[in-house]
Amino acid sequence: MPDELNPLFGTTWWDKMNEAEKGEVRRNLEAWRFSQFMHGEQGALICTAKIVQTVPDIDSKFYAATQVIDEARHVEVYSRYLHEKSSSSTRSTTTWPACSTTSFVTVAGT
Ligand SMILES: [Fe+2]
Repeated sequence: MPDELNPLFGTTWWDKMNEAEKGEVRRNLEAWRFSQFMHGEQGALICTAKIVQTVPDIDSKFYAATQVIDEARHVEVYSRYLHEKSSSSTRSTTTWPACSTTSFVTVAGT
């Protein structure tokens, strides 16, 4: 993302950072953004699982379950991106919440 979209851009803190520090801020900001998307997908996963529970007939459940699978895939993609691509040498991946699709579905009670 362009630096102009970084909330620190244009501040005295930004101006005092060297390029390595700015790079670390960029990586952390992007990881935060992707983390927000991942949590939105977790919410979508819960919502679609609830729809499966509430629809009355089996055909509706089959149809709604396809969306649950899609949302689970979205959670997995964002989770993997955060764990595998967004980590840096100065931050452990354990900083991010444990959120594999399997454990999340168990927590969601589905
Ligand atoms: Fe989604």
